[in-house]
Amino acid sequence: MAPETRTKPIQDQIDLEFEGKRVTLPVVKGSEAEAAIDIAKLRSSTGLITLDPGYGNTGSCYSGITFIDGEKGILRYRGYPIEQLAERSSFLEVAWLLIQGELPSQSQLANFQQLIVRHTMLHEDMRRFFTALPKDAHPMPVCAAAIGALATFYQRQEDEQFRHDVAVRLIAKMPTIAAWSYKHSIGQPVLYPRNDLPYASNFLRMMFGTPCEDYVVDPVVAKALDLLLILHADHEQNCSTSTVRMVGSSRANLFASISAGISALWGPLHGGANQEVIEMLEAIEAEGGNVDRFMQRAKDKNDTTRLMGFGHRVYKSYDPRAAILKRTCKEVIGRVGGSSRLLEIAIKLEEIALRDEYFVSRKLYPNVDFYSGVIYKAIGIPVNMFTVLFAIGRLPGWIAHWMELRNDPASKINRPRQIYTGPKERPYVALEARR
Ligand code: ACO
Repeated sequence: MAPETRTKPIQDQIDLEFEGKRVTLPVVKGSEAEAAIDIAKLRSSTGLITLDPGYGNTGSCYSGITFIDGEKGILRYRGYPIEQLAERSSFLEVAWLLIQGELPSQSQLANFQQLIVRHTMLHEDMRRFFTALPKDAHPMPVCAAAIGALATFYQRQEDEQFRHDVAVRLIAKMPTIAAWSYKHSIGQPVLYPRNDLPYASNFLRMMFGTPCEDYVVDPVVAKALDLLLILHADHEQNCSTSTVRMVGSSRANLFASISAGISALWGPLHGGANQEVIEMLEAIEAEGGNVDRFMQRAKDKNDTTRLMGFGHRVYKSYDPRAAILKRTCKEVIGRVGGSSRLLEIAIKLEEIALRDEYFVSRKLYPNVDFYSGVIYKAIGIPVNMFTVLFAIGRLPGWIAHWMELRNDPASKINRPRQIYTGPKERPYVALEARR
């Protein structure tokens, strides 16, 4: 499906000597000139491994999907700047681009959209799955479990056609699963998808409509949601995508790999941050809107408070997605009203942080989550669904990475090493001799 990306452009080399053993390691460069030492021979030649907790300095693969320059605030999918895609494309177009590697032609896009709308329904037996879970279940683990369970409905022998079919079905069914997990959590009957509606509108209707009253989708809201999905569609080797690739490296199927990715995304330091941003803004508002006091706490090393939605492992300047969302945030609130107090607090926090030595010296800028939560809130998305929307958006990126891994004949099962710090060998002590 995706084009072959694994090239090994050796540009230079580095000689290393350790305890009398020498090795020459190649330096490889990517298409944007980012360089890496290829350490594949390091251990067999010198006995050394590299140690990089958190993988901040580790390239785990060759990838041709997304390019990020965190210092310059650049994000591109398959070479196309995120700003241009955000302004001119649609989410399904971006999904095709990420998975197939090129922008679709008009007929390719029309066929893809047609395929997606034809597969939005869930097998009727899946309804029983939702009712088996507790009513107050967070929709994120419900989605992860539902995606894992879908594997039981698709058990054909895996070949390229099957992988393609499964990818289409996942993108098509994800909004239905997401909306049903929400309906289950509030005790309302689920709504079936309507295939005459575009992707984002279909989801909004299944979320907010009821069998008694249809939900008329505001085009501004649908456009904002489609934009949010585009901005979340991929972000190279982040925690959840690396999880998808890690699980996929064992040749686990796409459902299992995506389900693991959703679980990784749920964490508050990753996809869960936009929920935490809203909770933070609401807490500041409830305490009278004292932004300065909150900032003192966020900077205090004896206080665990963080300015949620600020800072990023890769971006050391303004996250380009946050810049786009800040504008959309104002448009959406101008249209639907509500949340304007939270937006005011967010803008004030940002203004202070961008001048404050603590944040400036640590290169902490707003990330995508800083404004996305305010938009979700304005369009009525409940806070516990924020991360689920992130997962809907990230799905094509996860699929593209999983496909890239599968199409790479040289890919191996991922298996990092460690530096062992436990006890040295010691003899077993009989139970009766232990105190
Ligand atoms: N508020 C206050 N201080 C912060 C923040 C913050 N949001 N983020 C980082 N810092 C401080 C740290 O305390 C640390 O200070 P120190 O050097 O004095 O010890 C320094 O900045 C570096 O922080 P690290 O946690 O080491 O940076 P790392 O790259 O590991 O973490 C992360 C990045 C997890 C995103 C972090 O900035 C954070 O927790 N931010 C808030 C949560 C958030 O918004 N997450 C969403 C990320 S985007 C996404 O996943 C889609």
